[in-house]
Amino acid sequence: MQKLRIGLIGYGGIGRVHAAAYRAIPFHYGLPADSISIAGVATTREQTAKRAAEEIGCDFYTGDYHELLARPDIDAVDICTPNNSHCEIALAAAQAGKHIYCEKPLAMNVAEAARMAQAVEAAGVKAQMTFNFRFFPAVARARQLMDAGLVGRVFSFRGRYHRSSYISSEKPMSWRLQREVTGGGALFDLGAHILDLLYYVLDDFAAVNGTLETLIKQRPVAAGSSEKAPVEVDDIALLHARLADGALGTVEVSRMGTGATNDLCFEIFGDKGAIRWDLDEPAWLQVYDARTADSPLGGERGFQRIEAAGRYPGQRAPDWTMSPDFMRAHAECQYQFIRAIWDDRPTSPSFADGLHIQRIMDAAERSSENGGWVELANE
Ligand SMILES: NC(=O)c1ccc[n+]([C@@H]2O[C@H](COP(=O)([O-])OP(=O)(O)OC[C@H]3O[C@@H](n4cnc5c(N)ncnc54)[C@H](O)[C@@H]3O)[C@@H](O)[C@H]2O)c1
Repeated sequence: MQKLRIGLIGYGGIGRVHAAAYRAIPFHYGLPADSISIAGVATTREQTAKRAAEEIGCDFYTGDYHELLARPDIDAVDICTPNNSHCEIALAAAQAGKHIYCEKPLAMNVAEAARMAQAVEAAGVKAQMTFNFRFFPAVARARQLMDAGLVGRVFSFRGRYHRSSYISSEKPMSWRLQREVTGGGALFDLGAHILDLLYYVLDDFAAVNGTLETLIKQRPVAAGSSEKAPVEVDDIALLHARLADGALGTVEVSRMGTGATNDLCFEIFGDKGAIRWDLDEPAWLQVYDARTADSPLGGERGFQRIEAAGRYPGQRAPDWTMSPDFMRAHAECQYQFIRAIWDDRPTSPSFADGLHIQRIMDAAERSSENGGWVELANE
């Protein structure tokens, strides 16, 4: 029987989601319960690691991730720590011969991301990014339809990821607002996701023209405190982008989207058709075929809703008619990483994909600082 023993590094908001998703995978695919296990967990402090191990139900915990990497009973590590530690942990894990699953954004900057992509290649370990939103069947169907030519020549595209998580000026500082820990603001946090969706469904990005802005420039150092600290990263990022094939589009990213709970969507317009997907309707892909007859009285032309629903190939439960959600998409992203290891095939999204997203974000930041269009760096 194929087995994978995982060392989980970081057990905050998303570490918990990953842990729950690993446990769910055997139920989704009819696998033995012990085929996927979390063999150990590391956080920054032994005390929090102990609590995490109690929740997860694993025996080994540590306040030093190097101890996880030293364990021969761990095949792969899952990096769920703040962005400034991804590179250091991934390089050490590659050196220790562990497969690596890493949260987005891949790194703090292009140089780190390039080092990581090169290190996993050199070590011959499997390495995958957590770009979980790719793993809705409707998004995979969008990619298939693009490949099949449904949209034809892409005229333009539009991507949006708005949340309202920072609209209160009383929301205190956290690592997500400190440049030396996070690398970038809304662009890195939310932008990485929508940029990856567009890259996955469309093509490589070639150049961007971006404007980034910090709307609330100071925040309390802690909840309720009158002492304030400067916010060092963007709250909002507005991008014009040009793809390698010449198509133009816009990408809007904001943590200040009042009323937007988790508003993620994309639209693609071409000479033969159009595609739309919205996370608020995750089960459905909207498709417009301009070749459909438009007469009489509009014929049958118009946007159709394709029932992509929960059609994960090989899934045993739930039934395909059930809508996928955030947890199911994370589980699928993790399952594809595990299958890449078991079946010895390339990972997708790879660290090279994570590096491409890092290059787009870097170009957007440079454009915002210096003005004008910036071509993606290729170091
Ligand atoms: N894909 C998604 O849906 C999604 C959602 C949220 C966060 N994220 C990403 O996940 C990562 C973590 O975010 P979060 O919200 O869970 O953060 P968090 O602050 O809630 O948790 C961070 C965890 O990492 C641990 N940690 C920090 N430095 C460490 C180190 N050097 N060694 C071991 N453990 C360390 C902390 O103890 C804590 O357990 C970030 O990169 C973030 O961008 C992704």
